[in-house]
Order: sequence, then structure tokens, then C-alpha cells
Amino acid sequence: MDKFRIRGGKPLHGKVAIGGAKNSALPLMAAALLTPEPITLHNVPTVRDIVTMAKLLAFMSARVSTQDIPSTHYTIEAASLNDAVAPYELVKTMRASILTLGPAVARSGYAHVSLPGGCAIGARPVDLHLAALEKMGAEVTTEHGYLFARVPKGGRLKGANVAFEKITVTGTENILMAASLADGVTVLENCAREPEVTDLIHLLRKMGAQIEGEGTPVLTIRGVSALHGATHSIIPDRIEAGTFLVAGAITNGDLTITNCNPAHLSAVIAQLTRAGVPVEICDATTMRVRGSKNLVGADMTTQEYPGFATDMQAQYMALATQAQGTSVIGETIFENRFLHASEMMRMGANISIDGHRAVVHGPAKLSGTMVQASDLRASAGLVLAGLVAEGETIIDRVYHIDRGYEQIVEKLRAVGANIERIHGVSS
Ligand code: EPZ
Repeated sequence: MDKFRIRGGKPLHGKVAIGGAKNSALPLMAAALLTPEPITLHNVPTVRDIVTMAKLLAFMSARVSTQDIPSTHYTIEAASLNDAVAPYELVKTMRASILTLGPAVARSGYAHVSLPGGCAIGARPVDLHLAALEKMGAEVTTEHGYLFARVPKGGRLKGANVAFEKITVTGTENILMAASLADGVTVLENCAREPEVTDLIHLLRKMGAQIEGEGTPVLTIRGVSALHGATHSIIPDRIEAGTFLVAGAITNGDLTITNCNPAHLSAVIAQLTRAGVPVEICDATTMRVRGSKNLVGADMTTQEYPGFATDMQAQYMALATQAQGTSVIGETIFENRFLHASEMMRMGANISIDGHRAVVHGPAKLSGTMVQASDLRASAGLVLAGLVAEGETIIDRVYHIDRGYEQIVEKLRAVGANIERIHGVSS
């Protein structure tokens, strides 16, 4: 397993370009299952989850081609779908594999996918995806860890009114895709409004889907009998951009972040401003962050979009360890997303956990040690802590970070960080 070695204390200076959003690219790749015609996607990030999704689609007999290696352009052509079931070994590494369920059952009246398990951040059930498909007429059963969804007598899914009990991002995306090919009108209430959901709506519309309500909690989908090919460019990754904002601030550096969409980061920018970090929006795709000697503790609670993203919570916690005073951080989306806190404490952070709240007292002098990544964003939080810690931090299990951060070592080194990947050292 690879590790990262970071020698902290260097301010980051320069420009960093943001890649395409992983959490947008994954549903957009799955949407290719809805049509026999090719879907071409640009600005696809070069991260491990994308490779896993490409393998999964290929398993379902889609032809996946890339134009160069590493590639940001993918063409996916699902001329026909087979009923092959992806091995659990492939699916278990990526919960987003559930995104193939809605499109597959809508297109062929049948889908067979592995039930995703829980993960470090929580149980993460998919009951809301399944209940919505059942409302649309699918029969859903689970056996031996696999989900079977079929439409009786080989018919089509039927439009339905679905009110999600809880806001779910991939649940909204799965049912949006299914409803696009259903017979009749589907009204979805309490939908996720994340920019990645809107990006999916934009692709689906290019494919011929009829969807209204983008950016609102109510989506109305008028099902069509067939969708066609399209070309689309993935939106920038707002979590990668937010992570670099914190990197510039925590190292007392000066970073210009390009190829991003500051409008998708309003809650993060507002929170950083409360914590004393100057963020300048230069234009529609560029931001500049400068370090501040006057970081102040500021409370924050994660929320669904447009609130502060749970995927930025670990990174914000790293910043809070360096701020003067107390920051109370509330996590409302996942039940177990503070695993990075105990690793930060091992580095000298003063954090106490009380259920869904973490109380961070700062500033703490962090010192490098051996820490373990537990999930994708926790890894990012530990990298940020390592950048400011005194001495050497070794982060183990960085395969988590490779799932969702493109070339993070190279990008950080290019702006002055002392970070390297140690290859293949078994833990
Ligand atoms: C998406 O996961 C993202 N993944 C996650 O990003 C992100 O943390 C999360 O949304 C929240 O923003 C992708 O987009 C691929 P949810 P998702 O369904 O869709 C509960 C990252 O680091 N729930 O919105 O799986 C669930 O347990 C990742 O890039 C149910 O109870 O999250 C959670 O508590 C990690 N039943 C809450 O809803 C369901 O059927 C929100 O989960 C579905 C969800």
C-alpha cells in the first residue's frame, strides 16, 4: 500500500488547476446506459473511482474508450446491455456503483447489481433508491448480497410521485435517470440540489430527456421512450477546489485556484471568511486565497447543498486546529464521519467528540507522526494537517485519497509542498 510522506511548514504559492468533479462524472458515466448511442464526456478526472466505473460499465457490455492516457475524455457506447453481474470485488470499492441500477432497469426492464455495503463514514443504506423504483412499478428483491430489480412482463417503469424521506444525492440521480425513460410523468420531491445533480440534468436534457425544476427540491420528469447520444463537459470539482482553499490558508500561503466554479463554493467561502481567511473571487472560474495570521475559531455545521458540504468537513477541521479559539463542528449527514479527528489528535490537535459534534480548541502546534487515512475526505484533512505540522507526517492507506483526488501529490508539489508518495510499502 502506498503512503505519503509530508514535511510540513512550507507556505504554498502559485497556481493550481482544478479537475472535473468525480461526483458528477460518476452519474454521468452511468447515464450512458440509458441509450444505445455514444455519450462523450470531457473534463473527466483521472481518479480511481472513474476507472472502477469504467470497468463496471464495460462489464455490463458498454464500450468505454478514452482518447489518451491519462485521459479526461471518455466515450461510452452501450449498444446493448447484458445481464452480467459485476463481481463484488469490483463493486465493493465504490458505492457509486448503485448508480447503474436506475438506468439499467429503465432501459432493459431488468437490473442485477451488488448491494453496496456500508463504509467507514456510516451505514449508508440505499432503501430510498429502492422504494422510489418500487413506486415506479419495479419489483425489487435482494438475495445473497445482490439486488434484483425488474419491471413485470418486460414493460417500462411508470411515472410516479416520489417524496424522498431524506435528501439523497445518488438517490435523486438514480431516480432522475430511471424516470427519464419511464412511461409518464414523475414528480420527485425533497430532491438533492447539489451542482452534480444539475450537471446530470444538463446531460440528460442533451440526450432528449424532459426535466424541469433544476436547482430546486422538486423535479418533474416527463418520460420519453428513447434517449440519444450527446457530448458534455463535466463541471469542476468543488471539493478539490475547497481543499486547495484550505491548503492555501492553513500554510499561510497565496494560491490562485483556476478552472473552478466559485459559485458552487459559496458556503465554504463564507465559512472561511468567518474564520478570518481572505478569499477573493477573481472571475467566474478563478479564486485566490491568502493565508492569514489571524485565523479565528468559527462554528460550522454540515448541510445538504447549498449548505457547507460534509465532503469539506475534515479539511475544515484541519484548519480549525490552527485557529485562535473554539470551533464547534456539527456533522448532520453521516453518523460516523469524525475518524480523522483521532488521527489529528495524535498529531497534537485539541479536539473532543460529543456525538455528532466535534469541539476543536486552537491553535495547536501539530507535530508529524504516522497516521492512517480512513476515507477519501479524511485523507485530505490529514494531508492538510501534515502540511502545517512540524516534522514528518506519514499517511498510510492513501488509496482512499487516490479514489477522488487527481494527482494530489504533483499538484501540491507544484505549489511548493514537500510531499512525496512512497510506493508499495505494505502496512
Ligand atoms: C453522495 O453520496 C456523494 N457521493 C458523497 O461523496 C457525499 O458525501 C454525499 O453524497 C453527501 O453529500 C457521490 O456523489 C458519488 P446520500 P450518497 O445518499 O449519495 C442516508 C465523497 O467523499 N441515506 O446523499 O451516497 C445516508 O446514509 C463522497 O466524494 C439513506 O438513509 O449520499 C446519509 O446519511 C463520500 N437511505 C444521507 O442519507 C438512502 O437510500 C445522505 O446520503 C440513501 C441515503
